[in-house]
Amino acid sequence: MPRQSISVVQVADPAAAAALVADEIAQLALAQRRGGSALVLGLATGRTTTAVYEALAERVLARSLELEGAIAFNLDEYCGLSASDPRSFAAWMRERFFDRVGWPGERTRIPSGLAGEDCERHCADYEASIRAAGGLDLQLLGIGRNGHIGFNEPGSARDSRTRRVRLGPETIEDAARDFGSAEAVPRFAITIGVATILDARRVRLLAFGEKKRAALERALHGEISSDCPASFLREHADLRVYADAAALGQSLPRKASV
Ligand code: GLP
Repeated sequence: MPRQSISVVQVADPAAAAALVADEIAQLALAQRRGGSALVLGLATGRTTTAVYEALAERVLARSLELEGAIAFNLDEYCGLSASDPRSFAAWMRERFFDRVGWPGERTRIPSGLAGEDCERHCADYEASIRAAGGLDLQLLGIGRNGHIGFNEPGSARDSRTRRVRLGPETIEDAARDFGSAEAVPRFAITIGVATILDARRVRLLAFGEKKRAALERALHGEISSDCPASFLREHADLRVYADAAALGQSLPRKASV
């Protein structure tokens, strides 16, 4: 059932949101360690989340965050790119975070862009690995201009799982800056599903800047439907949205937590 109120936290800038998210992750990591289990994080790439990796890396280096034993599952990857391709999300994550904090490859999972004919099995295995790890404790998310989460483009079903998807025009346009041109952007990607995201115990969605205003407005206040996959997040029991004034625009927080 849709929640009665959504926890929306208005922040001054991405760094302010990053500090709050990184502190929460540090507390979760500590609680999990004390409880004898490992933290399982769902991670997202993109400009929106860059400050979060900065903040997390600072905490690891300052020893206020211990990631030993923790496992990360990334949301998505472009089809056709190897993990060593500098344009892959795998390379993006290594450069901005995993290598900086020495998080080893066997505990940082990202869908393979080279699964090819084995794609279906690879996607099922990825879902199974998340379940085997005990499920995601916290899923970090950005939002696409078209309301996508991960690469769950408009049309993605509430019960969708990890799968190969065709990228929509806005997504290709936005990715063009990372590939030199829209033509060079892969047309397909692997993404975890909407249902996989909703299974996470906590979801933290970040959105900054005017460009995200319309998508965030639909996600928070529009109809809950596949037309805006992020709107399904309102069915999650522990969703928190961190957004700046530009992204919130007219959709002022219904309930500000800070
Ligand atoms: C990308 C990723 C998403 C990300 C979104 C927003 O294509 N697949 O996981 O949240 O689009 O990206 P950005 O933060 O760069 O605006």
